[in-house]
Amino acid sequence: MAYYCSHMDRVIDFINVNRERYLDELKALLAIPSISALPGHQADVKRCADWCGDEMRRVGLQNVQLIDTPGFPVVYSEWMGAPGAPTILFYGHYDVQPVDPLNLWESPPFEATIRDGEIYARGAADDKGQVFMHLKAVEAHLKQNGRLPVNIKLMLEGEEEVGSEHLDDFVRGHKDDLKADVVVISDSTMFARGVPSMCYGLRGLVYFQVDLRGSGTDLHSGSFGGAVANPAFVLAQMIAQMKDRGGRIKIPGFYDDVRPIEEAERQAWASLPFNEKKYKKDFGIPKLFGETGYTTLERTWARPTLEVNGLLSGFTGEGAKTVLPAVAMAKISMRLVPNQDPNKIADLFQAYVETLAPKTVELTVTRMHGGKPWMTSYENPYVQAASRAIEKGFGRQPIFTREGGSIPVVSTFQEELGLPSVLFGVGLPDENAHAPNERLDLANFHNGIIAAAFLYEEIGKLR
Ligand code: BES
Ligand code: MN
Ligand code: MN
Repeated sequence: MAYYCSHMDRVIDFINVNRERYLDELKALLAIPSISALPGHQADVKRCADWCGDEMRRVGLQNVQLIDTPGFPVVYSEWMGAPGAPTILFYGHYDVQPVDPLNLWESPPFEATIRDGEIYARGAADDKGQVFMHLKAVEAHLKQNGRLPVNIKLMLEGEEEVGSEHLDDFVRGHKDDLKADVVVISDSTMFARGVPSMCYGLRGLVYFQVDLRGSGTDLHSGSFGGAVANPAFVLAQMIAQMKDRGGRIKIPGFYDDVRPIEEAERQAWASLPFNEKKYKKDFGIPKLFGETGYTTLERTWARPTLEVNGLLSGFTGEGAKTVLPAVAMAKISMRLVPNQDPNKIADLFQAYVETLAPKTVELTVTRMHGGKPWMTSYENPYVQAASRAIEKGFGRQPIFTREGGSIPVVSTFQEELGLPSVLFGVGLPDENAHAPNERLDLANFHNGIIAAAFLYEEIGKLR
């Protein structure tokens, strides 16, 4: 018989003893191809919502509900048995990105496979593995002590990877149900292997499709070339005018609301263990590029960017074909930083693109999803509580970082519910989120469960 000296010892013991079982369960979750972007997978996304609801019941959460939205359901559950203690609102997503190009996967994306201490599958890091950590931390508390040290409300959405279109309305429509003291999210990365971190800022996003038409149909490039505008060429010229050679975005007014990086941040980031050589090597980058006057970390964490996410025009098959394409298309997005407003930037982009397009082509600009940037203070007591929990789970004090990615609902939680967020991410930057061979480090997964269990304990003490 083991002798337990405290309720947390019992919780940690449970997590250690059940380590293998967690992997089997996580594999079942990762087997569901809940790709929100692809209409052919709608039933799988719903099945994944059901699985999450069932799992919430199994771990002892109460009031489990699948709440319909015009898109995929929000899976909700709670445990509210700690009167007087703070309430955590946990947010995560059960949808995943598409898997193409499939031929680059070393093992099938929906048959989770363990190699070298990492579990490979679509969604392993983004975000199923990280959501599952919290379900197991809740389970350990409830199974061992019959209670949690805090109240918790969990909400999992199924549309994060397609822009969380219905989530703002959901939050606004459930303000009372979602009342809490702090939001906890595990959907980001830590700085590097062995360097746990707390993220206090995210970039925002605006996303566009730009279509050009130069003629009613593809034309023979010999008979028509030189007399009719080539939309691929025009598009390239337009794109070329969006950024200068120094990486600065040329949209008038684009930088007006950009909050400058504070000197203290610059200094703190300069001392982080960031290795430019290794970064280039890891990602196969010949030479780094970016806005003049800023470091790589500053460029990705605290400066906005405009990127071409995709380009399509003309003949791209094998061999050669002499053709004047009728159309050209680009997907273009901008990452935003505090205090840029996605609506304002979208208007500026649209107006600028309209000035760039010559009369020789028909232009269609389609606005897609977006989200606001977000930032909090790391002096916030919840962030400090999370920092202590990470230290207990990972054996090392976290460093404070910002991130270049976006989680649009974080600013909604702040604005609509007045809630601060704690970003408690344990993914690694090289774990291939959104790419082939996505994976999650199993040591980080295990330590993440322990850290999550301590997080509830630490937040519970802030009554
Ligand atoms: N988990 C990511 C966001 C993220 C990535 C945060 C890296 C911190 C570091 C999330 O699932 C995601 O991919 N978000 C999209 C948002 C978009 C679809 C609105 C993104 O950042 O592109
Ligand atoms: Mn995610
Ligand atoms: Mn993602």
